[in-house]
Amino acid sequence: MSAIRFENVSKQFANVGHTAVDNVNCEVAEGSFVVLLGPSGCGKTTLLKMVNRLIEPTSGTIYLDGQDSRTIDATTLRRQIGYVIQQTGLFPHMTVAENVAIVPDLLKWPKTDIAARVDEMLALVDLPPEQYRDRYPAQLSGGQQQRVGVARALAGDPKVILMDEPFGAVDAITRTGLQDALLHLQRRLHKTILFVTHDVEEALRLADKMVVMKNGRVHQYDTPFNILKNPANDFVRELVGADDMVRQLGLIRVEAAMQPLPPDFTRNGQPTIAQDDSLRQALSLLLGDGVTSLVVTDGAEPVGVLTLRQIQRYRE
Ligand SMILES: Nc1ncnc2c1ncn2[C@@H]1O[C@H](COP(=O)(O)OP(=O)(O)OP(=O)(O)O)[C@@H](O)[C@H]1O
Ligand SMILES: [Mg+2]
Repeated sequence: MSAIRFENVSKQFANVGHTAVDNVNCEVAEGSFVVLLGPSGCGKTTLLKMVNRLIEPTSGTIYLDGQDSRTIDATTLRRQIGYVIQQTGLFPHMTVAENVAIVPDLLKWPKTDIAARVDEMLALVDLPPEQYRDRYPAQLSGGQQQRVGVARALAGDPKVILMDEPFGAVDAITRTGLQDALLHLQRRLHKTILFVTHDVEEALRLADKMVVMKNGRVHQYDTPFNILKNPANDFVRELVGADDMVRQLGLIRVEAAMQPLPPDFTRNGQPTIAQDDSLRQALSLLLGDGVTSLVVTDGAEPVGVLTLRQIQRYRE
């Protein structure tokens, strides 16, 4: 069962000529990281907000774990779904710890559990709790505020997390750091993440699958690799820069294009590459070593295989 399923979902705002979200059908598998990508005004935020019912669809249905979201009380629903937005939405008059504790407080967890959870979440986003828990948001950098926003979204242990341009307001270097941190977190936590961005590079780096949108419609829904390889139309091709193959291969993680280990897999000295390395690094290794396949590792153990054939297919 998919964690989120959009079925014929549309949103028409009153007194607005065009349709903000136009008949979207899409399934988000449990534990997957799905990025909504598209130009400003294409309906990304509207689609996201329909998941936690900050906006109600005009027609169509959104299912969460197979259940029609309209049958779930909106407040209950929002406590079960983490939500991170660009300006973090941190409450300025509350400390970092109080901000992170909001959902566990609402869920009436015991106080000692909450304190432990706050510290655990801050550590998880690389903010040492003893140093940061009593600060106020204004005493943090933009990147640190975003980390607190992520910690807060995770605190109630939601299965689904919605992120709306969460790193939009930070500089490029901090942004890359936050992306890496999020990928590492996701590897441990396996949340279902819907992540909005209009930054193609961010989308290619983070996504297991990408939803490419324009004018409220989904133009393509596939892995970054398949979208670059086989863009559905000229709009998608230009948006993702599919013609600039080498550069884009440098953004896609090996993990996003590898095949699972075959059941009869044995290790016999093939060169290895880490799952976080890029396809461009994989390609140089393949060509440099004159081999046709690489073993992908999580740093130590094999987790998949990547063949030259898979990367070549991209160019056909
Ligand atoms: N509350 C609203 N009332 C009327 N129209 C709205 C409302 N919210 C969004 N819209 C319109 O719906 C369309 C989609 O908006 P949305 O905010 O979903 O776009 P977006 O893809 O998130 O854009 P951006 O990248 O700029 O954040 C736009 O045309 C917008 O003007
Ligand atoms: Mg938006």
